[in-house]
Amino acid sequence: MRFLLLLITACGAFAAVARQPAAELPELGQAPIRIGSFNIQVFGVTKMSKPHVVNILLKTLERYDLVFIMEIRDATGRAIVSLLDQLNNRVGAGRRYAMAISDRLGRTSSKEQYAFFYRESIFSLAGTYQYDDPQDLFERPPYGALFHVRGALKVTTFGVLGLHTSPRDVVVELEALHSVQRAARNAWQNENVLIVGDFNADCTYLNRREKNELQLVRDQSLTWLINSCMETTMVRTTCLYDHIVATGSKLMTAIDVESADVFRFDSAFRLNNSVAEEVSDHYPVELLITGKMTDPAKLLWLGQSLEVSQSLDPAGLQSLHRMRELEGRPPSPQLNGGFRTSGYLDSDGGGGLRLATAVRDGVKAAAADVGLAVSEFRAAFPGVLRPETAALLAELAARHLPWESPPPLPGYGDSVADNPLRLTIGCSLAEAECTARLSVVFRAVN
Ligand SMILES: *[C@@H]1O[C@H](CO)[C@@H](O)[C@H](O)[C@H]1NC(C)=O
Repeated sequence: MRFLLLLITACGAFAAVARQPAAELPELGQAPIRIGSFNIQVFGVTKMSKPHVVNILLKTLERYDLVFIMEIRDATGRAIVSLLDQLNNRVGAGRRYAMAISDRLGRTSSKEQYAFFYRESIFSLAGTYQYDDPQDLFERPPYGALFHVRGALKVTTFGVLGLHTSPRDVVVELEALHSVQRAARNAWQNENVLIVGDFNADCTYLNRREKNELQLVRDQSLTWLINSCMETTMVRTTCLYDHIVATGSKLMTAIDVESADVFRFDSAFRLNNSVAEEVSDHYPVELLITGKMTDPAKLLWLGQSLEVSQSLDPAGLQSLHRMRELEGRPPSPQLNGGFRTSGYLDSDGGGGLRLATAVRDGVKAAAADVGLAVSEFRAAFPGVLRPETAALLAELAARHLPWESPPPLPGYGDSVADNPLRLTIGCSLAEAECTARLSVVFRAVN
């Protein structure tokens, strides 16, 4: 990539620089987070005793920033703690998981626990919810947790409510789940909830007619995100048992709906059927919650800029006062030469005392247009820029425009150049200097 640095010191009063300023890229925004739900068939001490199975579980779980785990069958309670410890050893300090786990649930001696693994750097646990099931409607009553999200997602707090239905009682349990999700939202005082789990909502356990009559399906405020072309169980059957259902307007805008999918760990890790079946008879289901892009006002200043600086000219002081007076007025040719102006005192050290700036976006990337914009500024605010400064900026623009497009930004995808350019003219009282800068702004496309 070209790196230009020209320093011209004609008569010592001004300098011109064409450069690519940022060696370190500023943060573009918060990366998306991935949420999963995984029935790890009969998870317990036996499964933990097989290192090759544990290895696949760890590789699968570390995909997720938050994952709901079902079918923990282990009276000792040690297997899930060992899984969490091994996962944390694997991912390292900055990516550690914490756990929220339910009591052992079930009507018979065969009991299961639910658990959430969540990354501590992203989530803090704001509460759990265990449905107390006074009418004994569920084999394993739903368990949920409310999470606060650190960092900039489009949703800051949401709940996840999970259920592993009894295959013998799917209709009753899923009907009851509709009221339980409402009760959980009330308890959490939060409408944003993901309802997840192995619902056994397909094939011999629930036919299409029964499914379509469920309140969970008919309720328009709930969105089922795993659709019928994605089977969630393995090889021998093609049944859609595992689901993610979302509710809450903030959460719905934050979910990347197209990311909702089944994670086929067998093909992802190139496992044959016999190994895959040792891991689980279910695939995880998952989705992404999108991160927020950085405020558009803080666009990525990655690109080229041209800059010409000169000493502050006392002849321009009157105009600088006028730039401050017109602060915030919309660009208009008569009023401010088509520039947005502002004046502020930057008192926190660093940048020095700003006196006034003027910005015009939408300058076409051609030397003649740059020259025109500069002369319109000079007509509106006489005395600020010397004629040599204006001429030098136009000359640099003629030599260096148009600029190349930037490469894609790793991890964020493509960027686009906001081409036309931005022309900024700013004067600093502390530095007794004015700078005219022409820059191209690159924006990540999300
Ligand atoms: C499946 O893969 C495992 C591990 O790579 C191997 O030990 C086993 O023999 C394979 N089984 C079959 C049926 O191919």
